[in-house]
Amino acid sequence: MRIRTVALLAGLAVAAAASPATAQVPPVAANGCLMCHGVQGQGANGIPAIMRVQSRAEFTTTMKLFAENKKPGTIMGRIARGYTDEDLAELAAWFGKP
Ligand code: HEC
Repeated sequence: MRIRTVALLAGLAVAAAASPATAQVPPVAANGCLMCHGVQGQGANGIPAIMRVQSRAEFTTTMKLFAENKKPGTIMGRIARGYTDEDLAELAAWFGKP
């Protein structure tokens, strides 16, 4: 039973990694964004909306600029530095405009 569960989860992980562009559920990395940007990424408490606001390419560029301290911000520089290129691709596929 336990082995079957592990095999199933491994299969899901492979499926998720193979098709970020068609993801139906948020990537794990997105969970850390929603407490500030609103549960749907719609913006909240003066924090800008991020869901379908920028194209995927623009979103990725924005995150990289934050990470490199080339885009001013209070908190996003530190946050953006915490994600790998793979994470950013998944986040862009989820939040970016198709
Ligand atoms: C602690 C709260 C907080 C968290 C967590 C957070 N953000 Fe932000 N985000 C902000 C704030 C505040 C801004 C405005 C820029 C700044 O002050 O850093 C912002 C700006 C942005 C912008 C630019 C929006 C625009 O239109 O200029 C993007 C894109 C973004 N965040 C994406 C994300 C993603 C993706 C995550 C999760 C990986 C995330 N944020 C997590 C608070 C947060």
